[in-house]
Amino acid sequence: TPPAPAYNEELEHKTILVGDSGVGKTSLLVQFDQGKFISGSFSATVGIGLTNKVVTVDDTKVKLQIWDTAGQERFRSVTHAYYRDAHALLLLYDITSKSSFDNIRAWLTEIHEYAQSDVVIMLLGNKADMSSERAIRRDEGERLAREYSVPFMETSAKTGVNVELAFTAVAKELKQRA
Ligand code: GTP
Ligand code: MG
Repeated sequence: TPPAPAYNEELEHKTILVGDSGVGKTSLLVQFDQGKFISGSFSATVGIGLTNKVVTVDDTKVKLQIWDTAGQERFRSVTHAYYRDAHALLLLYDITSKSSFDNIRAWLTEIHEYAQSDVVIMLLGNKADMSSERAIRRDEGERLAREYSVPFMETSAKTGVNVELAFTAVAKELKQRA
């Protein structure tokens, strides 16, 4: 068999953060990008934000163009337009919010409707640091992820747990598929 073609480090992988308002999409991206957690009052994202990041996977640079979407219902039609040419989707719920977890099925239905069929999907249960207010057990997240055949992790945008790992796992998968 011929050797696999070298990975093109110039490729830009469009990666989108989705999930209900308040699950921590913006916080997760700020933690990944700047290594910090902005506490204080919650300000919902309006429209959409873009952050470019380069992740190193086995000595190879993988460029991620990360779009932070607004979870609020009134911005949904804007988000749909971004699904079509997305290469990866990080789908978040908040482990302290049952409704955000229950809505994951609806998010996946939308994703399957608007995104490419080969889009890389990763399910994240965020706010893992808030154990005393946990409403969704880890195994419930794992089971849902298994049902849809997507990888799953619990993250904390506050402590940084698994944040780097989640984006790196996505980058690894994108590199393999490119
Ligand atoms: P929209 O922009 O409306 O879609 O919301 P979002 O998903 O971007 O949520 P955002 O990152 O703004 O976080 C919502 C609230 O949850 C903020 O008050 C954050 O400080 C808090 N938060 C986010 N992630 C975490 C986390 O991992 N742990 C804790 N304890 N709080 C978090
Ligand atoms: Mg936001």
